[in-house]
Amino acid sequence: MRITGSVRYIGVNDHQTDLFEGQYQVPNGMAYNSYVILDEKTAVMDTVDERFAEEWLAHLEAELSGRKPDYLVVQHMEPDHAGSIPAFLEKYPDAKVVATPKAFEFMKQFFGIDLGERKEPAANGGTLELGAHTLNFLFAPMVHWPEVMFSYETSEKILFSADAFGKFGALDVEEDWACEARRYYIGIVGKYGMQVQTVLKKAVGLDIQTICPLHGPVLTENLEYYINLYDIWSSYRVETEGVVIAYTSVYGNTKKAVEKLAELLREKGVEKVVLQDLARTDMAEAVEDAFRYGKLVLATTTYNGDVFPFMKEFIHHLTERGYQKRTVGLIENGTWASTAAKVMRDMLQNSKELQFTETTVTIKSALNEESEVQLNALAEELAK
Ligand code: FEO
Repeated sequence: MRITGSVRYIGVNDHQTDLFEGQYQVPNGMAYNSYVILDEKTAVMDTVDERFAEEWLAHLEAELSGRKPDYLVVQHMEPDHAGSIPAFLEKYPDAKVVATPKAFEFMKQFFGIDLGERKEPAANGGTLELGAHTLNFLFAPMVHWPEVMFSYETSEKILFSADAFGKFGALDVEEDWACEARRYYIGIVGKYGMQVQTVLKKAVGLDIQTICPLHGPVLTENLEYYINLYDIWSSYRVETEGVVIAYTSVYGNTKKAVEKLAELLREKGVEKVVLQDLARTDMAEAVEDAFRYGKLVLATTTYNGDVFPFMKEFIHHLTERGYQKRTVGLIENGTWASTAAKVMRDMLQNSKELQFTETTVTIKSALNEESEVQLNALAEELAK
């Protein structure tokens, strides 16, 4: 498949995996992208998951039309991209491998191989001349692993962006970009906002016409849209005004309370209210929503002197990804000795720039007159 006359797509679609990276549901599959640049010298940009090595090598062979690859550029050593390196090395024993020193270290760890003279270590800011095409390397540590680098091809203004600007979903399924790119970014790279900001600042100085990520579609139009979303996500800013209500409910009473809260918020003019039942939703969707919207309500029961397990897991997902700069309201339910609100607040104590609402709702088993007044006050605060 042509990206341009000399840059070809040779990636694969995965509709087999049940959980990407061992935890993410991918109902529309996953794409492992790889590219080949055809010039006086030929360079292959990354490989694919090892289960697809044969298919990928066939794509490569078809684009090479009898030529041999001169270089394999390894931008990221995670197995979804690096898994077919051994198959490539075996098939093309004369090809050199270009990667960061850290990537060579990981190659040895994963495959037990030391490439010796086949190694071409890349330098940050260094280049690889292919003829009319030149790759410029830009190290991008922690986007999403420490060995990652981006490559910018100057003649056609293409940014090979590793995991950045990727999304869940195979390329033979049509779906909205932002929804699955956001779930991917927040879930997988969300903790490393600062590192993404650093590399974004360098990347925006480049004249980019095409972004070739390692997952998801090649981006060719309206690039400001994608770059702007990455800037929002990596600086933890609010993308959409609205309230997410994340809850757990044992016998339905906490559920009744949050449904009532959603109704009150809508009556008070809040246009976007999202309810997430943490025991039943895809946890990564709930986490994505918490980072997308400006306000969050956490509602749960006291459980074993703590909070309900799904809520505990949810808050852990937030804090480990650097959740910050948001307004948070708390609803606790307990038949005796309610501690949930305190536990949730304590779990969030190291999160930066959180503003807790003045009202905390305490339900004793089921909503009553007193807790309904609190619920109203909470809605009032959140709708402001
Ligand atoms: Fe797509 Fe971090 O691997």
